Amino acid sequence: MAEREIPTLRSTLKDMVLARTSLLYLLTDEDRRMEAEIRALGAAFKPPFRVYIWSCTTGVTLNDEPVIPNPSIMEALDWFMKIDESAFLMINDIHVFLKDNPPVLRKLKDTAKRIESSYKTVFMVSPVLEIPTEISHDVVLMDVPLPSLDEVEKLLHQVISREKTRDGLQASLTEEVVDLCTKAGAGLSSQQIIQAFRKTFSGKNAITSKELDVLFEEKRQIVRKSGLLELIQLDMNFDDLGGFGNFKKWLTQREDIFTKKARQYGLAFPKGVLLMGISGCGKSLCVKAISAFWNLPLLRLDMGRVYDGVEGTPEECLRKVIKTSEASAPCVLWIDEIEAGIANASQKSLGGSASRILATFLTWMQEKTSPVFIGATANNIELLPPEILRKGRFDELFYVELPDEEERAEIIRIHLSRKHLPLERFDYPPLVKTTEGFNGAEIEQGVLGALFRAFTQKREMTHNDLFIAFESIVPLSITMKEKIKTLERWAHNRAVRAGKN
Ligand SMILES: Nc1ncnc2c1ncn2[C@@H]1O[C@H](COP(=O)(O)OP(=O)(O)O)[C@@H](O)[C@H]1O
Ligand SMILES: [Mg+2]
Repeated sequence: MAEREIPTLRSTLKDMVLARTSLLYLLTDEDRRMEAEIRALGAAFKPPFRVYIWSCTTGVTLNDEPVIPNPSIMEALDWFMKIDESAFLMINDIHVFLKDNPPVLRKLKDTAKRIESSYKTVFMVSPVLEIPTEISHDVVLMDVPLPSLDEVEKLLHQVISREKTRDGLQASLTEEVVDLCTKAGAGLSSQQIIQAFRKTFSGKNAITSKELDVLFEEKRQIVRKSGLLELIQLDMNFDDLGGFGNFKKWLTQREDIFTKKARQYGLAFPKGVLLMGISGCGKSLCVKAISAFWNLPLLRLDMGRVYDGVEGTPEECLRKVIKTSEASAPCVLWIDEIEAGIANASQKSLGGSASRILATFLTWMQEKTSPVFIGATANNIELLPPEILRKGRFDELFYVELPDEEERAEIIRIHLSRKHLPLERFDYPPLVKTTEGFNGAEIEQGVLGALFRAFTQKREMTHNDLFIAFESIVPLSITMKEKIKTLERWAHNRAVRAGKN
């Protein structure tokens, strides 16, 4: 079965030009990349299209030479609509000139009409989506995706070929190294990619695992600075998740789902899962385990940040998140406590906006074809709007319960192993009994408490230390009995048990 060809940015732009698009709004903050793309696009036509660039300081230029020195945008548009050639005009930061500026809006409408039958396109580049209604029918919007893996790879070769130590660097470019570098660049803008590659490789004679670590750390920093997403460094293995039998079965059945072979079978990528249940039962751990299982990068979204306005409007934030995660695909997008953002937003009387954001998000979930797997968790299901639970959004809703006896034994063993304690030193039946009603977090807390007790007494930790530590913990489930009951009742027909059947 042939795979569907994925259109590149260049081919999409070309199609728009061939369709005689007059006004094209490119939503992106990568104006340098756009300039390079548009120049390359112009050069690909026979005969080549000239690429004119307008700015409010230099007027219209062609290859940096002035054409119309008058800096007025009105003059520039006037001139462009009249010239007798197939050509492009690029305008950066167009939103600034569209705002409360009726003459420019009128001029753009006139330009669109005048050039509609010729191969002339005005590329209007802007980092924000602000198209006044007056011209919304005349403008075609394109939300420019971040560089694809192929583009990242090109940038890698470009950066390396300009380094003084290029011979050594090039010699270490095995297929695997290229693949890792490309993945490190995915999800960043072209400027960020170039800077990260330069910073990492400059003056280096080879790309070893050390350079790759530096590169990934650099990427983590860049992503963190964006304020919305965090690239999580996994501190666990898949086996560190105790219980979750049913969930693990679900995952195992889909082990190869992100492979080419699955694609050739015509299988769609899974969309994601929602894990619900009281806190401390391992929902967050489970999302990490998903990323470990498929060996995919894990991006955590801070839903609160989407709504708090610091990083822009919620709509802008969501768009950025979608762009970054799609460019990083295949990846796991972790939305921890998905209800928190929604609840905060309604408190801030952002109610309308909150549901709009959620609607956009759900639409994306439903329509997305890219391999972005969403791992969402929720503690308070009553705060979740019903539409999030409707079929077609998540592949499955899982309900996480307190671990039963067998699961508790497993979780105790996991946390003892994590501390490198010999498992045969402990007698499990009494430990399992005394941890009745405990969640995984409380079991972990008990192990740490016992370890601390032994440490302060300068001796090895014993079974007794652990037993005493467990005895002293009052599990959350005692005070939350009612809540757990409500949750269980709610989940009964709506969700699948993550633990045992
Ligand atoms: N099923 C489990 N298996 C192993 N450890 C667990 C489990 N559940 C909880 N834990 C421990 O408790 C910690 C907190 O759990 P977490 O995943 O944050 O719970 P939740 O997200 O449901 O509130 C985990 O990091 C882990 O150390
Ligand atoms: Mg959690």
